[in-house]
Amino acid sequence: MKNAEIDWSSLGFGYVPTDYNVRCYYRDGKWGEIEVSSSETLNIHIAATALHYGQEIFEGLKAFRGKDGKVRVFRPMENCRRIQESARGIMMEPITDDKFMEMVRMAVKLNERFIPPYGSGASLYIRPLEIGMSPKVGVSPATEYCFIILVTPVGPYFKSGFKPTNICIMREFDRVAPRGTGRWKVGGNYAASLQAGERAHSLGYSAVLYLDPKEKLYLDECGPANFYAIKDGKYITPASDSILPSITNDSLMQLAADMGLEVERRHIRVDEIGSFEEAAACGTAAVTSPVGEIHDLDTGEKYVIAKDGQPGPVTRRLYDTLNGIRLGEVEDTHGWNEIIEF
Ligand code: PLP
Ligand code: COI
Repeated sequence: MKNAEIDWSSLGFGYVPTDYNVRCYYRDGKWGEIEVSSSETLNIHIAATALHYGQEIFEGLKAFRGKDGKVRVFRPMENCRRIQESARGIMMEPITDDKFMEMVRMAVKLNERFIPPYGSGASLYIRPLEIGMSPKVGVSPATEYCFIILVTPVGPYFKSGFKPTNICIMREFDRVAPRGTGRWKVGGNYAASLQAGERAHSLGYSAVLYLDPKEKLYLDECGPANFYAIKDGKYITPASDSILPSITNDSLMQLAADMGLEVERRHIRVDEIGSFEEAAACGTAAVTSPVGEIHDLDTGEKYVIAKDGQPGPVTRRLYDTLNGIRLGEVEDTHGWNEIIEF
């Protein structure tokens, strides 16, 4: 199949129209047949719970074209489990494993010409989402749902790619509550992060490093990614009930352990930042984005982490290994890749 005419290497993280999306409706107590659509719009009731009461959840995963020409999707069952958890979290109907996996495969195969070529650095971003469709004016869960998977080719999330960027701590805003929706991927968390995120961008930061919303003593995560630091040969990453359990972070913890690093998932106090040798934001979109400096906008403290302005050696190794596995260049010893058969 002929590839779409796209300048793959200059792609950012944006929406590029593709040929098809796939949809499945939950009605009368069951999921229906998967439908293929070439429309970029959706017909939705003006009183749908998704529009009024935020019954919306989503996921993000990627497909890669390898050196061997094969197309690999990274750990899709983990995204399936997480969106099922998110559904339970805000009382939506969880999609079934079979439907999720079939829809991922269909969305990738139907849009084969948009899978970026090997070597371009780009990938096909897969975005599943689910919304409450039933009209409700009183606040209660919908009885009808729509599950959609759209795909779009993407480049790096942070414009600088793998160069260190600066992030900031800002105590004025929380994106989630201590026992709220932070552990689920619900649209409302991202709405709640917009003011802080836009302010951070306008000040030249790539992201906000949120603190725990209860005490503001510990590091939580970045707006669109988890956070880790390297210190004394250890990979340390926050343990918190208000962060999203990142599949990338889980993979990096495993790779770090494989490399002989000790892995600690624990509370990390703000005053520990000064001792970090490396730090990075990690996620599907962010991959692993090294942090140059962390500025605490409330105290005025500026922590310089990447002292030579370059990604640290551990982060570079983790990034190369993770990418290598996804491109089929490094042995997939943990069985993370799902190969799409065409
Ligand atoms: N944290 C938040 C708030 C996110 O939006 C994401 C992105 O999905 C992540 C962390 C990283 O998760 P994952 O590595 O599963 O993409
Ligand atoms: C992802 O990494 O997949 C995300 O969902 C982050 C962001 C684009 C919301």
